[in-house]
Amino acid sequence: MSVTPTSASQARSFDGIAASYAANRPSYPPELLDAVEDITGSPLKGARVADVGAGTGLATMVLRDRGAKVVAVEPGPEMAAQCRLHLPDVPVVIGDGNSLPLASASIDVLTYAQAWHWTDQRKSVPEALRVLFG
Ligand SMILES: C[S@@+](CC[C@H](N)C(=O)[O-])C[C@H]1O[C@@H](n2cnc3c(N)ncnc32)[C@H](O)[C@@H]1O
Repeated sequence: MSVTPTSASQARSFDGIAASYAANRPSYPPELLDAVEDITGSPLKGARVADVGAGTGLATMVLRDRGAKVVAVEPGPEMAAQCRLHLPDVPVVIGDGNSLPLASASIDVLTYAQAWHWTDQRKSVPEALRVLFG
């Protein structure tokens, strides 16, 4: 696991290609969500899920479609705008995995779909533990 923080400019680089990302990036297969349910031992239906680094909402969408009560957390305003465009029924919050804009012990499952490596794990690990367990 990398603990090297990326620069803010690298982390924000997705914002400049948000529309292209939304148009071209493939989504996730159902087997991935099956694996999440196997690992957590609980169905996603009804679970409070925060999809961190949600981008344009690809993983957010499949989580929502499984019946999760999902909130998208995304630092890039343009990526967040694409997420809102495609998922108008899902709350999208501007925020960062290193300092989550979520209350302590408010979330059952955290996902970081191809986004975990963009966080600084010295900060994102304690943040994850805080929002999951308080
Ligand atoms: C490869 S994209 C993945 C987007 C989406 N989860 C998906 O599966 O398509 C990586 C995302 O991580 C976001 N990101 C960058 N730094 C972040 C950080 N420190 N915390 C949370 N997300 C971050 C980027 O803005 C970008 O939307």
